[in-house]
Amino acid sequence: MSRKFDVVVIGAGPAGYVSAIRAAQHGKHVACIDEWQNKDGKYAFGGTCLNAGCIPSKALLESSELYHRAQHEFKKHGITTGDVGIDIAAMQKRRASIVRQLTGGIAGLLKANKIEALVGHGKLLAGRKVEFTPVDGDVEVLEAQHVILATGSTPIELPMAKFDQEKIVDSWSALEFDAVPGRLGIVGAGVIGLELGSVWARLGAEVTVIEAMGDLLFMADRDIAKVAGKDFKSQGLDIKLGARLVGATASADGVTVNYEDQHGPQTLAVDKLVVAVGRRPFTDGLLADDAGIQLDDRGFIEVDEECRTRVKGVYAIGDCVRGPMLAHKGSEEGVMAADLIAGEVAELNYDVIPSVIYTAPEIAWVGQTEEQVKASGREYKTGSFPFAASGRAKAMEQTSGMVKIISATDDDEILGIHIIGPMAGELIAEAVLAMEFSASTEDLQRTIHAHPSLAEAVHEAALAADKRALNYPN
Ligand code: FAD
Ligand code: NAI
Repeated sequence: MSRKFDVVVIGAGPAGYVSAIRAAQHGKHVACIDEWQNKDGKYAFGGTCLNAGCIPSKALLESSELYHRAQHEFKKHGITTGDVGIDIAAMQKRRASIVRQLTGGIAGLLKANKIEALVGHGKLLAGRKVEFTPVDGDVEVLEAQHVILATGSTPIELPMAKFDQEKIVDSWSALEFDAVPGRLGIVGAGVIGLELGSVWARLGAEVTVIEAMGDLLFMADRDIAKVAGKDFKSQGLDIKLGARLVGATASADGVTVNYEDQHGPQTLAVDKLVVAVGRRPFTDGLLADDAGIQLDDRGFIEVDEECRTRVKGVYAIGDCVRGPMLAHKGSEEGVMAADLIAGEVAELNYDVIPSVIYTAPEIAWVGQTEEQVKASGREYKTGSFPFAASGRAKAMEQTSGMVKIISATDDDEILGIHIIGPMAGELIAEAVLAMEFSASTEDLQRTIHAHPSLAEAVHEAALAADKRALNYPN
């Protein structure tokens, strides 16, 4: 006899495990299936985000930033040290330990919520049945009232630079290097390229990034991208724009990289090459032929605004469906799907999803860029405030960057807030909340911000939109 569940979730990344917990909070009988296996052979919940993405990358960004600041900033504070050294094994041990604690935490949360946590492969069959193939044991068919597909994404592999995970590697392997490569090549100056490039550059690698687009950070506001370009250059990141990879050949000596830019064919010799040119939805082995689920032409599972697939009772969320591939977007879709299953009203405001790039300075934004607003034809005003004029940023010795706000001229609606600077990833939360609550620019202007704080820069940028900045000339 097959086991019956109210909800079966396939995938326990930030989309899947969150949807499972929310469904359990609604009193549903839930199973959550995941097959993630770490490089040490151990199975773990948490998906890409916890095991090979958000969390390990931020652990290394923090360690490498502290190393960099100890070398380059401490003196200014009057702090003297001996030679500052770096122990990569210890750094990686810390990274692995954080991942272990957090993935273990997910297993604990599933248990606390009385969710059946199943380790193995899930496959959607017709009629809301799920075939579960455990890592050990017999295949079982589960029956479900509702199924949530949350199988995530995987790195795109280029045919001319196939991963060997030794010399030509994906982002996961690049998070687990056991030594600093002397010369590191990166294909793609996207979010991963910039974050991982920063990590290994701070630790001493000579980093060259090859980016096909002619503009850096084409998805960001141009004013922000300009500051970022200058800062990355001064940090020693050699970013070659308008450079398209043609081929990469690994040998005992390293990797020979061939690319083309406006000057013609170029060659680059590196010790390791990270290919970070985007991720593709992962649905391998997920769908039986008669499951009835439709994929779009890029392989994403087709869903409506409420994450419903074409099959009644089957939802899909997170990286395997349209929209930005971000953990918080997937988690909120998980909450929405579970709430809808429970019969509640639920929706997600896709216009107000924050983006953060955890470089130094951090880059964060929500809403539209100035270029997008201009193209929309709506009359707008802008205000900005540089961190160089912020007392708190000066005290922190982190004065690069600014806050920029774009607002509608007619009704004062905030259309976008863009930040490059210290703790931008934290500061953006105020901007998201303001936009979620449809705050006007004046609402931000009249909100009291603690002094001295970095958040004052958001306040001043809002004031500057009406030429009322108090701590910077208008
Ligand atoms: P995933 O996290 O990919 O989880 C899917 C899970 O489903 C996996 O565990 C997989 O093993 C399992 N699975 C797949 N198919 C099956 C099956 N058939 N049966 C059983 N199990 C299956 N996003 C941010 O918001 N902030 C960041 O700072 C950030 N940093 C990142 C850094 C890196 C290096 C990378 C690679 C990504 C980063 N991301 C970040 C993106 C983020 O990791 C993803 O958006 C997020 O993990 C997507 O969540 P998900 O639950 O949809 O999928
Ligand atoms: P990306 O889409 O951010 O960037 C890929 C880059 O590679 C693009 O700039 C593209 O123009 C370039 N490119 C593509 N093909 C190329 C070629 N042949 N030669 C040279 N350049 C080429 O993808 P990335 O960095 O792999 O990250 C994947 C996703 O993971 C991100 O889009 C994001 O959703 C998520 N992520 C989020 C993070 C965060 O929120 N802080 C951190 C890391 C990843």
